[in-house]
Amino acid sequence: MQANTIDLRSDTVTKPSEEMREAMMHAEVGDDVFGEDPSINALQDYAAHLFGMEAALFCSSGTQTNQIGIKLHTQPGSEVICDARSHVYLYEGGGIAFNSGASVKLIQSERGMFTANDVLNSINEDNVHFPNTQLVCIENTVNKGGGACWDWEEILKIKAVCQQYNLPFHLDGARLFNALVAKNQNPRDYGNVFDTISICLSKGLGAPVGSLLLGSAKHIYQAKRIRKVMGGGMRQAGFLAAAGLFALQNNIDKLATDHAHAKHIAGILKEQSWVEFIYPVETNLIIFKTTDDFPLEKLTSKLLKNNIKFSSMGKNLVRFVFHLNLTQTDISILADCLQNIDK
Ligand SMILES: Cc1ncc(COP(=O)(O)O)c(C=O)c1O
Repeated sequence: MQANTIDLRSDTVTKPSEEMREAMMHAEVGDDVFGEDPSINALQDYAAHLFGMEAALFCSSGTQTNQIGIKLHTQPGSEVICDARSHVYLYEGGGIAFNSGASVKLIQSERGMFTANDVLNSINEDNVHFPNTQLVCIENTVNKGGGACWDWEEILKIKAVCQQYNLPFHLDGARLFNALVAKNQNPRDYGNVFDTISICLSKGLGAPVGSLLLGSAKHIYQAKRIRKVMGGGMRQAGFLAAAGLFALQNNIDKLATDHAHAKHIAGILKEQSWVEFIYPVETNLIIFKTTDDFPLEKLTSKLLKNNIKFSSMGKNLVRFVFHLNLTQTDISILADCLQNIDK
């Protein structure tokens, strides 16, 4: 990849900063399968404390933390309520079926955010014909919803339904820090509501690898066993955990810059005749649709001439993701380029 590429494909493309590399270089490590890696223990304790939860488990990816979370709460033949656009359903390789033997009740919603009433209507009655509803899972921010943030009041209403029906509540918080920053929310409020939370360190926060599953001590004890079965027991992974801890301690506030960049570019896109619609922009993602006479391929080739890369979310649906490694100059080049596209 050329040095001056403006890479909007994902916030996972970032490379560790010098300071982060420094933290990694000097990490104290040990064998984490024996629970003896001080850097991993420090990261897990820090994250659990941040959310006011009892414990945390460092895992290789957000897919792994989600899948372990789902496995913790379900039995084969049971059912998970989630959104039709959710990452756990769409992009984890059928992991709910593969790892947990569970089925899904998909809710079709506005930008990936359903209501407590939708959940009520999705719970199966206790009848031998139906899968046993065992888990409710939401995603915040919603990737396929253009980085949309859930309404906190709705989350509380869903929690009340979960409590009424004795259902655990899992949060795919791959980009939860974006929501916390955008809405000025406290992680502890989330820790109080959800039974398990998955957070990612390698997206907007800029670490090279890693996610954490947060939950009760009992759940995390069991999660460690599941992680081992999935082949995810790591040894001297403290070098990676040190990057994660650095990210949590230094990079959360920086997300506001990504959000400002996304809003600035969204403002420009709104004025372009070749943009049919754009989802409301709340965080670091923009999803927009190009008009039929300006298909995706045209935009791709025009932007590629300026070394600008992006990903697609469907027919003429474009996703731009803003992240730590984009400079002010990159944003100016992008803005200029979008303003000067001639169809
Ligand atoms: C909303 C959401 N959840 C989970 C994941 C999975 O994370 P990973 O790529 O680390 O497996 C992603 C990845 O992009 C995501 O966007």
